[in-house]
Order: sequence, then C-alpha cells, then structure tokens
Amino acid sequence: MTSTPSTLPLPPGDFGLPLIGETLDFFGDANFATKRFQKHGSIFKTRLLGKPTIFIQGADANRFILTGENQTFVVSWPPSTRALLGKRSLALQVGDIHQNRRKLLAQAFMPRALAGYIATMEEITHRYLQRWETQGQLTWYPELRNYTLDVACKLLVGLDHGSQTPLGQQFEVWCKGLFSIPLPLPWTRFGQAKQCRDRLLQTIEQIIRERQQRSDPGTDTLGLLVQATDEAGNHFSAEELKDQVLLLLFAGHETLTSAVASFCLLTAQYPEVLDKIRQEQQQFPADRPLSLESLREMTYLDQVLKEVLRLVPPVGGGFRTVVQDCEYQGYQIPRGWSVLYQIGTTHKDDLLYPDPDRFDPDRFSPDRIQSQTVDQQKYGYLPFGGGIRECLGKEFARLEMKIFAAQLVRYADWQLLPDQSLEMVTIPTPHPKDELRVRFEKRG
Ligand code: HEM
Repeated sequence: MTSTPSTLPLPPGDFGLPLIGETLDFFGDANFATKRFQKHGSIFKTRLLGKPTIFIQGADANRFILTGENQTFVVSWPPSTRALLGKRSLALQVGDIHQNRRKLLAQAFMPRALAGYIATMEEITHRYLQRWETQGQLTWYPELRNYTLDVACKLLVGLDHGSQTPLGQQFEVWCKGLFSIPLPLPWTRFGQAKQCRDRLLQTIEQIIRERQQRSDPGTDTLGLLVQATDEAGNHFSAEELKDQVLLLLFAGHETLTSAVASFCLLTAQYPEVLDKIRQEQQQFPADRPLSLESLREMTYLDQVLKEVLRLVPPVGGGFRTVVQDCEYQGYQIPRGWSVLYQIGTTHKDDLLYPDPDRFDPDRFSPDRIQSQTVDQQKYGYLPFGGGIRECLGKEFARLEMKIFAAQLVRYADWQLLPDQSLEMVTIPTPHPKDELRVRFEKRG
C-alpha cells in the first residue's frame, strides 16, 4: 500500500458502454473473467452495474482483499441482491454489528448442532433416492434443487417438504431475481422477486411467531436462533430474524444444489473415482447410522468433494467496495470503485493446480497437499471464501454434501443420457445447461 496511489496508472481493461459498461457480458458469458485475465494479466478494470470495477486473481490477490476486510474494503453485493436480501441480512452487515450477529448465528452451526442434523439429512436423502429409483430416467438438477430446499426448510425452520409448499415456490422466483437488473416492474425478474420477498417474509414471520410462543423452541436452526443471546444477553429482534432466516434458506440451498449436481456429473464422467469412493464405503456397514466420526473417517470422499468444489466452485468470487485508496501490483485501486476477488479463476491457476481442468481428487491427498505453502492452501483454495466473512455454513454444507454422496454411491448407479448439453450455465450458480439428464437405478 502507498500514500500516493493516485500517481499510479489504473489497471488495463475497457469500461465498455456508457453506464451499463460490460454488465450484459458479465451476466451472459461464463468465461467473462477468464477471457479478460488472458488478455490483460492478473488484474483488469471494467464497468459493471454502473460502477467501475477491478478484477484481480490469484492467491496473493485473494489475501490482499480478504485481509483488508472492513479497513480497505467492505462487502457490497449488486443492487438487486441487496434489495432482495434486505439490509438486516448478515451478508450485508459490516463492522461490529456484523461480528456480533455472526457470533449469534454461528450458534446454529456448532458441532453439537450439526450432529443433531445428521438423521434428518439421511432421512430426506433416502426419500429422494427412492423417488428417483421409481422415476428411472430423470432431469436431475431440478430434483436436486427440491432436495436441498427440503433439507434447508426442515433443518432451518422445521418445515416439511418445503419445495412443495407456497414458501418453496415463492423462494424459487425470489432466487431468480437475485442477480438481475434492478427494475422494479411487475413483469421483470426483479419486480417479481421483490413481490415474493414480501410474501416470503410474511410466511417466515408467521413461523417465527409460532416458534416464539412454544415452550420448547426446538433444536433446528430457528429453534437455536430464537434462543441465541450475545454477551450482553440480547436476542435477535423478530424483524432481523426474518432477514437472517431468508439469507440462510438461500445460502443453504442454492450453493449446495450446484455442489451436489457437480458431484453427480463428475463421478458419472470419472468412473474410476466412483469405484474408489465405493471401495472406501465398504469399511462402513450400511446398517450403521452415519455419525460425525464415521463421516470424518471417509477421507477419500473428502478429497473428492474438495476437488468438486475446486473445479466447479458454486460461488465464483465476491464483490467488495474500496473504502480507502490503495494499490496492487503497481496499479491504483481508487476509493469508491468495486473490486472482485476470484474463486473460480484462482482454482484454475496452473501454478497451483497443474492440468487444472482435470478432475483429480488425489490433488488433495495428504502428500500432495503438503507441498503447498500455507498461503497457497488458504488463499489458493477458497470455495467458502475467507477471512472474517468466510462462509458461515461451511460445515453444514460439507456435512450435507458428504451424507448425500455417501448414501448415493451406496444406493444407486446412474449414467448420463446421450444428446444433452453439459455446457455450464453460471447464473445463479453453476449447473449443466440441459439440467443433467440421467438414467437412475438401484444397485444390484
Ligand atoms: C458466505 C460459499 C453453503 C451461509 C459465503 C461465501 C462463500 C460461500 C464463498 C463468502 C462470500 C463473500 O466473500 O462475500 C458457499 C458454498 C456453499 C455454501 C460453496 C456450499 C457448497 C452455505 C450454507 C449456509 C451458508 C449451507 C447456511 C446454511 C453463508 C452465510 C454467509 C456465507 C450466512 C455470509 C457470511 C458473512 O458475510 O459473514 N458462502 N456457501 N453457506 N455463507 Fe456460504
């Protein structure tokens, strides 16, 4: 950092059209960042959503941004996301309030709470496996969306079969507006999502009220949050709890759908990896319920899931606003601009990951991981972000992915159907264009 950054040049790159800049390309082109990094090197400027924006990539760049959180940079999601999440959402809070609320919310993701979620995750997974078996051939991605939404609704707010309820349907419309042009008209994606936000908040309010009136608030996330207190003994207000619950439902559903869909796709494409997962599973008797301990012992499955999140990270990067002029690699980063740290392109850096497009779970074997420096491990692999805003639900996500994967490989065989596009669509989170069409059968 320097005290005279304004004498330095701005990063290379084009602003694009007046006002909207390159926003349409950004939303429409899965390789938006990759193409520009190839042209300009590891830093470039553009204009997105009316704001000059700098993209920087690599482990060092990630460290620069994530360790400057709340001093040089503050979180700033696009306007559509901000309006739909609501200002009391943890993802938008900053400074001391953010730290205080994070501690409160974290109470729902402690190991004891997680252990209590396992049986429900197993039960819902099993129900869906049986359903897919009876379907035989299916378009898996929408089913996986329903699956993760059912798990999120049950474990977060105690709602059964959430995907089949009005809340589930409103939620899907709401999700579609999260990364959209923020025009609040009745026929725009954003306008429809905004209407759904109001209805969703009414439903969530009702659920919270019922819960507050019960003598035993329960052990799901909402039950824990209704009781959670900070050091001064304060609870969440009902108003804030609504926004926080909406955030958790979103975060716990959208990203996980992408992650489990990528697991299904990649293991169908790499049968030798699937064989090795199944060999490991033989050590765990099928009739023994899963536990945090047995899941921890599935070390090869762990490597596979890490590699899934490296190759297809559900979140491609994070937006921040620059609150203090600074410089990076000889370029000025002016106050008021946006910066984006990169997860997706960092995970494809061939210095960190040779042959980066190959699905190779052994990259995360203990010997190979030891050859990386601590910084490379921390900021060169960050599917869950990093620093003080690292994903709050990381362990919940890892738990659900592992339970899903272990039960799926034990129960079923699946093959990709021919004549489908596996090209990845990235908004809101990565998934194959034709939504993953498969033949699904119970293992003999
Ligand atoms: C934040 C990824 C699942 C709750 C984040 C961030 C990333 C991320 C990259 C940081 C964004 C930033 O730096 O601006 C993922 C992935 C998931 C996942 C890849 C699944 C595979 C979950 C789940 C929950 C959750 C299951 C909760 C049930 C949150 C919350 C934040 C967050 C509350 C905001 C944290 C803060 O701002 O302090 N997630 N997430 N996530 N995630 Fe996740």
